[in-house]
Amino acid sequence: MIERNVTVEQLAREARDAFARQFGRPATQVVAAPGRVNLIGEHIDYNDGFVLPMAIERFVVLAADRVTTPLATDHRPGYRVHSLTAGQTESWPWGGAPASGRGSWVSYVWGVLDLCARRQLATGPLDLVVHSSVPIGGGLSSSAALEVATATLVEALTGARLEPADKALLCQRAEHEYAGVPCGIMDQFSSVFGRAEHLILLDCRTRRVELVPLAANDVAVLITNSNVKHALTGGEYAQRRGQCEAAARRLGVASLRDCSLDQLVAHQSALEPILWRRAHHVVSEIARTTQAAAALAQRAWEDVGRLMYASHQSLREDYEVSCDELDVLVDLARERGVPGGVFGSRMTGAGFGGCTVSLVQAHQVDAIAAHLARGYTARTGIAPTMFVSRPAAGAGVVN
Ligand code: GLA
Repeated sequence: MIERNVTVEQLAREARDAFARQFGRPATQVVAAPGRVNLIGEHIDYNDGFVLPMAIERFVVLAADRVTTPLATDHRPGYRVHSLTAGQTESWPWGGAPASGRGSWVSYVWGVLDLCARRQLATGPLDLVVHSSVPIGGGLSSSAALEVATATLVEALTGARLEPADKALLCQRAEHEYAGVPCGIMDQFSSVFGRAEHLILLDCRTRRVELVPLAANDVAVLITNSNVKHALTGGEYAQRRGQCEAAARRLGVASLRDCSLDQLVAHQSALEPILWRRAHHVVSEIARTTQAAAALAQRAWEDVGRLMYASHQSLREDYEVSCDELDVLVDLARERGVPGGVFGSRMTGAGFGGCTVSLVQAHQVDAIAAHLARGYTARTGIAPTMFVSRPAAGAGVVN
């Protein structure tokens, strides 16, 4: 029922094997970068507020070697990137761009390599294999993990070291400019700053990272993939960003971070209903996130759980980024309740499909997973996939 997480060492072995098969020589560098799950603080990073993600035991692994002989295809040295997940190889000449261009999986690699090269961090021609255990399109930041893995590879190959926040921002820029996705900073920061046994309380305005311990053996973080992804995510995401900016302008603040709940309520008439709902989610979610960080530090699991349910409700009703399948999963979790071992549950990531995150009693996790799987399949006809993750370390070289 619950999928086991493949270790980073195993993924590295598989990536090395694939590299040798694909390119006929051994890889000389292997790096890994984790995906993330956000416990609370959703759609908050681009509003300058607080988010509380953790890196997960799911990784993008890159195996690579520099190219010293010209590419056979066009006799010009360049990049060859083989993705085990996509089952595709993309190649493009040094200084050029991949043919599939903006938005394809390879644009995350290309973007980071290109931005690094512009900063004199040029790797030179390169062959690489991409391997991943982060579900694609599951809202667990497979793209940020790919970007951060690429930046980590550049560091390993050039011997240069990017300052960590700068590295995360470079990866975010690659996502904006090369993949065309106007994301915030949460995913890339999580993949860079992840720490075993810790959540990351990130102040998205100052970019200050505070680590919140989550080393308890009695609680577990259960991630349930609805295995649906409704196609509207891209446009809806940019639209929500625009609505938040419009609400902030109307309220006369730089961002919704600068507005308290009292101030917002006092100015309700200044906002049309849709902007009010968006702003209400953001302002209340920022408060929930700092409260959840404090409750976690006290191991007040039931308080954290209540905040998670409230977050889901706010995302569903005010922010309107949930969907039926995610709501079913959260309802099923709530059915078991605290006596059944569930403290709280909510959708995680951008929404419209993807995963829920639940904080549960570790010893009841199998029964909870069985309950969710049975109920979800009965109500939607879809089988979910589930795994448990402890907070993982951020990106690095795999020896
Ligand atoms: C996506 C984005 C993040 C963040 C979340 C919503 O994962 O990449 O920057 O905005 O959605 O919290």
